[in-house]
Amino acid sequence: MSKPERNLALELVRATEAAAIAAGRWMGRNRKEDGDQAAVDAMRKMLTTVDMDGVVVIGEGEKDEAPMLCNGERVGSGEGPETDIAVDPIDGTRLLAEGRPGSLAVLAMAPRGTMFDPGPMVYMDKWVVGADAKGVIDIDAPTERNLEAIAKAKGKKVSDMTVIMLDRERHADAAQAVRESGARLRLIMDGDIAGGLLAALPDRSVDVSIGIGGTPEGVTTACALRALDGEMVGRLWARNDTERAAAREQGYDLDEVLTTERLVASPDTFFVCTGVTPGDLVDGVNYTGHGVVTHSLCMRGKSGTVRYIRADHTVTKLRELGAQGA
Ligand code: FBP
Repeated sequence: MSKPERNLALELVRATEAAAIAAGRWMGRNRKEDGDQAAVDAMRKMLTTVDMDGVVVIGEGEKDEAPMLCNGERVGSGEGPETDIAVDPIDGTRLLAEGRPGSLAVLAMAPRGTMFDPGPMVYMDKWVVGADAKGVIDIDAPTERNLEAIAKAKGKKVSDMTVIMLDRERHADAAQAVRESGARLRLIMDGDIAGGLLAALPDRSVDVSIGIGGTPEGVTTACALRALDGEMVGRLWARNDTERAAAREQGYDLDEVLTTERLVASPDTFFVCTGVTPGDLVDGVNYTGHGVVTHSLCMRGKSGTVRYIRADHTVTKLRELGAQGA
C-alpha cells in the first residue's frame, strides 16, 4: 500500500478563510481598497504557516492597481515543495464593496514552473465547461455552433442550457448570439472564477461560462478544472494596439489556443476558495456574535477530490485577524 500524500489544499484553505473573515467586515461599505487590503494582509499572514517554497506567479493588482501579494513574492515557510502560487485575495472587489453576491477569496497552487505567465496580457477570451462537455469546443466556431455541441454532449437541448457571462459592453455580440440560440443567459457583474466553477461543477444550474475576463482568473480557474476534469479553451485578448505590440514583443502568440493543460501544465494542482459575500457557489462569511462561520471549496487536481468545508471559528480567530468588528 502506498503512503498517502499531503493535501496542501487543506492547509491553504486556512489562508482563504482568513482573507474572507478579514474582508467580510467591509461588505457593502463602498471601500473597495480597504476590503482588498484586509484580504491581502490576512492571506499573506496565514500563508507563512504553510510548509512550501512558493512563488507568486499570478498576483493581484496588475489590472486595477489594487494592493498586492506581488508577482515574484516568496510565500510559505520556505521548506517543502517548490510551487507556483496564484492569489486572488478577493475575486469581485466591487461585489464586496457594494454588498452584492458572489465575491470569493481564492488561492491556487501548482508545481514550480507549471503555471502560464500572462505577462502583460490582462484579458483572455474563455469558454469553460465540465467533464460532460469536454473536447467539443472550437474557439473559432460561431457561438451558436459551440452551444449546440455542448448541448449535444450533455444530452440536452440548447434551450435547456444556461450560459453565464460577465455583464460587459464587449460581450454585446456574444450575448445576442446566446439569446438567438435559445439558451438561457445569466449575466453577472463580476467574478468569473465563480462563473467558471459553476459551469464545471456537476449538478449546478450553469452549463457553460463564456466571455472575456481576466487572464489571472483564467489560470486560477484552470487549476480547479484539473480537479474537476473540466475544460477551459481560451485565447489572449488585447484591448488595443499598444497591448498587442507589447504581447508580441514579449513573445506571446495572440492566436494560440490556450487549453487547461497550457494554462497549468501539471495535474498536481490545488485550488481553494472561501465565500466572502453570500453566493451560489459557496455561502458568505457569517459573524455570529460568538465567532464566525465560513464556507469553502477545496480541490486537489491529482486525486480529483472536491471538499466543501464549513468551518466554525471562535472569537480567538477574529482577534488573531483583528476582525472583531466595532
Ligand atoms: P477584481 O475583483 O480583481 O476586480 O476582478 C473581478 C473580475 O470580474 C474578474 O472576476 C474578471 O475576470 C475580471 O474582473 C474582468 O475584468 P473587467 O472588470 O475589467 O471586465
